[in-house]
Amino acid sequence: MSSVAIPKLGFGTWEMGGRDFPDSNNDDQGDINAIRSAIDAGITHIDTAEAYAGGKAEELTGKAISVYERQKLVVASKVRDVNLAYDSVLSSCEQSLRRLGTDYLDLYYVHQPNPAIPVAETARAFNRLLEQKMIRGVGLSNVSTSTIREYNKFLAQPVCAVQNHYNLIVRQSVLEGVIDFCRANGIVFIAWRPIQLPVPALGIASLAQKGAYPLLDEIAGKYGKSNAQIAVRWLTSQNGVGTIFKSRNSRHIEEIVQTGTFEISGEDMRRLTKDFPLQKADAFTSKGYIKLS
Ligand SMILES: NC(=O)c1ccc[n+]([C@@H]2O[C@H](COP(=O)([O-])OP(=O)(O)OC[C@H]3O[C@@H](n4cnc5c(N)ncnc54)[C@H](OP(=O)(O)O)[C@@H]3O)[C@@H](O)[C@H]2O)c1
Repeated sequence: MSSVAIPKLGFGTWEMGGRDFPDSNNDDQGDINAIRSAIDAGITHIDTAEAYAGGKAEELTGKAISVYERQKLVVASKVRDVNLAYDSVLSSCEQSLRRLGTDYLDLYYVHQPNPAIPVAETARAFNRLLEQKMIRGVGLSNVSTSTIREYNKFLAQPVCAVQNHYNLIVRQSVLEGVIDFCRANGIVFIAWRPIQLPVPALGIASLAQKGAYPLLDEIAGKYGKSNAQIAVRWLTSQNGVGTIFKSRNSRHIEEIVQTGTFEISGEDMRRLTKDFPLQKADAFTSKGYIKLS
């Protein structure tokens, strides 16, 4: 069983404060307001990373959460693949805590494995952070089952969350057995990018877009829900699966929070799982395909 209680629905912060670097034209207050809208709507799980906008997403998250009781929130961040050496993990975590204005993280993820740095070394640093109570739980992102197993050999406390790209279109974690492995080992599986940003070069539309996926239009119409709501509910209806979505629109945020109030029938879950078009074995980003490692 996971050592940290992780709510099934969480709020993401990618593209808050900028993309890979801070954007001086960014509407910072808009991002802070979006995070607060999510928390006010009942979301307690907030996901960020040192890589997002070069740390600025963590700063904005820190400002947003400063007006709430810290212990009511589950705050997750991630250390970049280039910072997985022992000293770098410790210093990255300290800097994330400073930017977030908190003295602990509920979840600290390896953002992406780095084959050049031994897992034993990174795990030793995570053990130190656990011991110092700077983090409550260890997460891994963009990983295969073999990487999870490898980390568990060295960690003082087993991995409690795995965060991979998973949605109606991207099924790599199912095909590679990652989700089944997580279920069997009490690891919470968190699906990133549940609504899917469009990737025009690959002919991929957002799952929120009406008319792009007729099966989704049909099922959304049947339940009187939006396509985005069905895409998110399909994920959170699955045993052991949670998700983190992002929005800057308070109406959209409220809509996604409402997905906890309806069920999709077993038959419609099966149709979405089996008959959805455009199922991709690979996870991809706007920069291209990424492989689980
Ligand atoms: N671990 C990793 O490597 C990794 C990689 C990528 C992402 N993530 C995490 O996962 C989080 C979610 O992924 P994401 O932000 O890339 O994509 P996402 O949540 O799947 O999609 C975000 C897009 O969906 C739109 N949207 C949200 N709710 C909607 C609604 N109810 N109706 C219509 N459109 C809606 C948003 O637009 P509006 O603002 O207009 O609502 C936004 O353009 C990230 O923020 C990040 O925290 C992790």
